[in-house]
Amino acid sequence: MGELPVRPDDLRALAGLFSPGIVADPYPVYARWRTERPVARPRERLYVLSRFADCEAVLADPAFGRVEENDVRLAPGQARAVARRVVARGADGVSARSMLQSNPPDHTRLRRLVSRAFTPARVRELAPRVEALTASLLSGAPDGPDGRFDLIAGLALPLPVAVISELLGIPVADRPRLVAWSDALARSLDPGFLISEEDRARQREARLEFAAYLRGLLPSRRRSPGDDLISALIGVHDSGGALTEGELIGLCMLLLIAGHETTRSLIGSAVLALLRHPAELAALSADPALVGPAVEEVLRYDPPVQLISRFALRSAEVAGSTIAAGSFVVMLLGAANRDPALCADPGHFSVRRAVARHLAFGQGIHFCLGAPLARLEGAIALRQLLPLLPRLRVCGEPEWKPNTVLRGLEHLWLEQAPGAGAGVR
Ligand code: HEM
Repeated sequence: MGELPVRPDDLRALAGLFSPGIVADPYPVYARWRTERPVARPRERLYVLSRFADCEAVLADPAFGRVEENDVRLAPGQARAVARRVVARGADGVSARSMLQSNPPDHTRLRRLVSRAFTPARVRELAPRVEALTASLLSGAPDGPDGRFDLIAGLALPLPVAVISELLGIPVADRPRLVAWSDALARSLDPGFLISEEDRARQREARLEFAAYLRGLLPSRRRSPGDDLISALIGVHDSGGALTEGELIGLCMLLLIAGHETTRSLIGSAVLALLRHPAELAALSADPALVGPAVEEVLRYDPPVQLISRFALRSAEVAGSTIAAGSFVVMLLGAANRDPALCADPGHFSVRRAVARHLAFGQGIHFCLGAPLARLEGAIALRQLLPLLPRLRVCGEPEWKPNTVLRGLEHLWLEQAPGAGAGVR
């Protein structure tokens, strides 16, 4: 056990991970981190992990959590940066810490209350509606003379937006605004140096508008609760009471953003991977029972959340190195999921893997609350796309969003493969 040396070169390498050319295929760079510097210390109080076992261990270890803005161990620069973020988040009266940003016991209470309303039964009941929405979106797929279809605009984006909006009871007419706010806020997860002043202003505005919008929805739901999740969240309480208005708004924002940005990436990446691996598409078409394993394999192979971080609440040991209290630990999930220690030939996409273990939904107390819903949507979308895919091919280069943390396709244009007959459908 010991202290790792700080390597300034790794700081440049870390910044390089966020350069625009990387987003289309960050995996060769991740492989270098994993093999050459699996536990890296680019500067004081900053560690980068890229092996599956190390990331899994940190996520399960209560020594690592979320940073509190008044933590005395923060260096002055860090403290200022954290305080700025928290103040910006709380400026609109919304709880500055969503469930995702909080530590126990706050996190335990919030998660318990939300889990009472967002139950597995509620997710299961959504299946017929997800089927119907998928069918209707695919039937609307343009069948124009050029037979092109943008999978993202046509299905991968509107499906999760419709599902999470219906779940929360957001009127159809309001959904485009929700997507715009969510897009702006998703970008805020990227490191500060990537975010322009213009983006920052857009994020502030989006947050204020989003919060005001949700606040406006609450009184009518309180007066006459429906069977939507917002009404259910208003109604839940435990011995500590109900959710405050700020907590409710923060939670709805989290669910709306987390509920669609990532699922959109899952559906986009699934189609891209299958069209790039015809033998796997053929295997899936021959045995649709593989749809569930295929969804897990996409999550392993190309996870929508590429990195997450934790704060060392006390000093702890990771892979034989001491990580001092007050350090930040970045976990490269995209690298961890392709760790050769996890599965054979991890860079190969195979829907026939017996077990596709992965960290795409995180691990430990913050394990994705929406995982069952994401899996349901991914499986239904794939099952309905399956008869169409063998006749399609990717048209041009896939276009990626600039986001590094919440990575995903902006557009994926599909066209008929030669000899496949006219149109997408
Ligand atoms: C493929 C789709 C999805 C992926 C890859 C994904 C990924 C993740 C990850 C990695 C985390 C943990 C972050 C961390 O530990 O720092 C997380 C947490 C969370 N996710 Fe998801 N997510 C997806 C879909 C959804 C959906 C559909 C919803 C809601 C309907 C949702 C709601 C949440 C919530 C509320 C948390 C916070 C849980 C907590 O702090 O206890 N997610 N998600």
